[in-house]
Amino acid sequence: MQTPLKEPSRQEIWKMFDQISATYDRVNRVMTFGLDQYWRKKMCRLLPQGKQLKVLDCATGTGDQIICLKENALSIDKVVGIDLAAEMVALAQKKIAQKPYASQIKLQVASALEIPYPDATFDCITISFGIRNVTDVLGCLKEFVRVLKPGGRALILEGTLPANPLLRRLHLFYMRHLLPYIGGWISKKQDAYRYLNKTIETFPCGDAFIELMLQAGFTQSTAHLMNGGIVTIYQGDKANA
Ligand SMILES: C[S@@+](CC[C@H](N)C(=O)[O-])C[C@H]1O[C@@H](n2cnc3c(N)ncnc32)[C@H](O)[C@@H]1O
Repeated sequence: MQTPLKEPSRQEIWKMFDQISATYDRVNRVMTFGLDQYWRKKMCRLLPQGKQLKVLDCATGTGDQIICLKENALSIDKVVGIDLAAEMVALAQKKIAQKPYASQIKLQVASALEIPYPDATFDCITISFGIRNVTDVLGCLKEFVRVLKPGGRALILEGTLPANPLLRRLHLFYMRHLLPYIGGWISKKQDAYRYLNKTIETFPCGDAFIELMLQAGFTQSTAHLMNGGIVTIYQGDKANA
């Protein structure tokens, strides 16, 4: 029996994640056929050069991106993870507490729109499947530029729509007609997954998103498409001093 879920206002999307937190990781693995872990790893290859990197993972959720970064990139020293959904952060804390590198990770309940750190603190900011859930995308990108050190880099992994018409139709069919049932079956919150997938269709992607990054203050921005464009990693570089 599905528990009805009221469609959240744009201001409250993060609250929905607390309601699906318990099954969040399982749904991710099943609905992406495990590819989400492959995409997260790809992000590690795009980290900026350098050693002892200080990284901020925004909208960190249950911590999978942080775990992947720490286990695949030796250049990373400290990582801070922030998210507004306290239940998601609690799950991340539990998973990370068992890792040998736990002392290098700090998790906080905080907003990506008001990052609680001074200007020029981080070498890199990562955000996976999070940017489309923030209420002010341009404001969030500006916050990223503010807290990045000169020469720093933002890596934004997000679901996108393939440009190839056939692939696009197939992907839309999967997102509209299959995914909500898979997510709903596991989490018992079908409405949440229907809503979350709808946001992929309406979110700016490709050149439109790159334009937003440049508008926010990144001096260079590139889109790395994966699996035919069903997901993209946007890379944004901040100017050197
Ligand atoms: C789809 S989940 C992604 C979680 C994780 N990054 C991952 O890759 O699995 C989106 C996350 O964005 C968070 N979120 C939404 N708005 C936020 C904001 N303004 N600041 C921080 N986190 C936010 C939600 O609470 C949720 O945990």
